[in-house]
Amino acid sequence: MARIMILNILLFITFLLSVSEADPEVSCVFSESCMLPCQFQFRDNLLIHWIQVSAGDSAVHSYYEGRDQLGHQVQNFKNRTSLFQDQISRGNASLLLRRVKVQDEGKYKCYTSTSSGIKESFVSLKTEAPVSKVSISQVENRIICSSEGIYPQPELSWSTIPPSNTTLQNRTTVQRTVEKLYNISSSLMVSDDDPGLTYSCTVRTQRNNMTATISKPSDLLWRTCVEISNIFITFTQQHLGVK
Ligand SMILES: *[C@@H]1O[C@H](CO)[C@@H](O)[C@H](O)[C@H]1NC(C)=O
Ligand SMILES: *[C@@H]1O[C@H](CO)[C@@H](O)[C@H](O)[C@H]1NC(C)=O
Ligand SMILES: *[C@@H]1O[C@H](CO)[C@@H](O)[C@H](O)[C@H]1NC(C)=O
Ligand SMILES: *[C@@H]1O[C@H](CO)[C@@H](O)[C@H](O)[C@H]1NC(C)=O
Ligand SMILES: *[C@@H]1O[C@H](CO)[C@@H](O)[C@H](O)[C@H]1NC(C)=O
Ligand SMILES: *[C@@H]1O[C@H](CO)[C@@H](O)[C@H](O)[C@H]1NC(C)=O
Repeated sequence: MARIMILNILLFITFLLSVSEADPEVSCVFSESCMLPCQFQFRDNLLIHWIQVSAGDSAVHSYYEGRDQLGHQVQNFKNRTSLFQDQISRGNASLLLRRVKVQDEGKYKCYTSTSSGIKESFVSLKTEAPVSKVSISQVENRIICSSEGIYPQPELSWSTIPPSNTTLQNRTTVQRTVEKLYNISSSLMVSDDDPGLTYSCTVRTQRNNMTATISKPSDLLWRTCVEISNIFITFTQQHLGVK
């Protein structure tokens, strides 16, 4: 009994340690620059290796003998990485990564070695391409909503004002661009029994959401307006004696 309890406590402590050791996450915006933080105790004989662990330990950026050493850098990172040279002597080995891609996502290791020892730290990079624009238009009896260049995969939803009773006949397709971003598009059948509705389409990721709205002019309402103005014209003509 006591042994099981001790075992449980040990498991719990291990769990707490593993939770607190989760790698810090860095959110980078697609195509922009992003900084992966790393700190160490500055001493001589400094060696820095930035490694993308999740891509089979790819060499991202190295520094030793007082300068950048990019001989083993993998193609993906060519011309996109730098250290802050003026910060290195302050124990700052943060990496600047430019023109962030979806493929850059994953776990990175910052390995530093000096005459006083070795330090390893990890960061997890997440790429985000927020929803930046939602387009909506009507083509015959369909309303088309679309948004492009989003990451991670967005969700698209339809709604009406006032809320509609019936399920909206919609079809959504998702496509992947060469840059691994998502294009999303949805087509909604407009029913004639629901005139005068306003249709809204929302595209969302965890990061943000955007809504586009279109009003289908009510055929019934339009006909009613024409009807009323005709009656009014007839009425005026009769009473003013115009012919
Ligand atoms: C990196 O930049 C240099 C000079 O600006 C250029 O010659 C080289 O082709 C570039 N390499 C890549 C992989 O873009
Ligand atoms: C490391 O240097 C960069 C660039 O100057 C700076 O933005 C960052 O805050 C520095 N990190 C620390 C912990 O000082
Ligand atoms: C909702 O649907 C029910 C039956 O399907 C119908 O009787 C009712 O009139 C509808 N309400 C609206 C607001 O369309
Ligand atoms: C869109 O269509 C799906 C079935 O294809 C349906 O489950 C969903 O409710 C529809 N969306 C709306 C907003 O009506
Ligand atoms: C995604 O949308 C962009 C912008 O409209 C377009 O240039 C590209 O061809 C689309 N890609 C796919 C796979 O649909
Ligand atoms: C949509 O974005 C707004 C901010 O623009 C936010 O307040 C809201 O919670 C978001 N809604 C959802 C469902 O994500």
